[in-house]
Amino acid sequence: MNYRHDFHAGNFADVFKHIILTRVLLHLGLKPAAFRYIETHAGSGVYDLSGPQAARTAEWRGGIGRLALSELAAGARELIQPYLQIAAPLLDLDPPRYPGSPAVARALLRRQDKMLLCELHPQAWRALKANVGFDARAKLIEIDGYVGLNAFIPPIERRGLVLIDPPFEATDEFGRLAGAIEAAWRKWATGVYVAWYPVKDVEKAASFARSLARSGVKPLLRLELQIDTVQPRGPLSRSGLIIVNPPFSLEAEARLILPCLSQCLAVGRAGSMIEWLAGE
Ligand SMILES: C[S@@+](CC[C@H](N)C(=O)[O-])C[C@H]1O[C@@H](n2cnc3c(N)ncnc32)[C@H](O)[C@@H]1O
Repeated sequence: MNYRHDFHAGNFADVFKHIILTRVLLHLGLKPAAFRYIETHAGSGVYDLSGPQAARTAEWRGGIGRLALSELAAGARELIQPYLQIAAPLLDLDPPRYPGSPAVARALLRRQDKMLLCELHPQAWRALKANVGFDARAKLIEIDGYVGLNAFIPPIERRGLVLIDPPFEATDEFGRLAGAIEAAWRKWATGVYVAWYPVKDVEKAASFARSLARSGVKPLLRLELQIDTVQPRGPLSRSGLIIVNPPFSLEAEARLILPCLSQCLAVGRAGSMIEWLAGE
């Protein structure tokens, strides 16, 4: 377990993931009934962008750094604004910081909502405790994310969102992820699940998507964002999200958000993809 998200915090893939996370959480907040936010691989919660890891890669400069300075197209701008309103105050700190998914979620939780965060790396766990642990709505558990997922669903609220954001260190991570999504959906079919994956190999990612489409899990929306040509041994330039039970408005929102992000964060050959893997 060597993965440290500090190297990548605020990069294009984080920006993409956190904007979509924001859209789903805003949708869940439309109804007064409480919901629960569950994360299997929570990370540190907040990242110091001047720290040695973030400074070494400076990936955030091509992600949130660029987005925050960009003129966004009308339509997309309104949809991205809630995320920027969460990130901007932290970016303005000295030293600048970036909100990880637990901090993004925390900003959108209401009084009645709860969150449950799983994290296994001792350093990330300590940081998470310091960054989010003081919030009475948050429960932090030092547990394997896939074990936690099986143990903590369905939540008592019976409404909510699970973010599955593994480090992809293990060679069989795509298989584990597909299995975890299917098992979770069979246990709690009405939950919203958002799963992140890297695209270092386009065929491998497509085969993961096809295996989910065959599993019976539905409805299933697949989003991908690319900022440069995919090179298996090069830096990450494309990533994807699988959304189970996406809010009804998400596809239309993604059709405005993704082209805007690909244009604004492009390094080389950029683009995006929106695909229904399975309908209702
Ligand atoms: C991609 S990062 C999470 C980033 C976070 N979701 C965000 O968007 O801000 C993956 C995290 O999973 C943690 N991790 C690795 N193996 C784990 C496991 N088996 N169970 C739970 N967490 C794990 C790593 O320490 C790392 O913090």
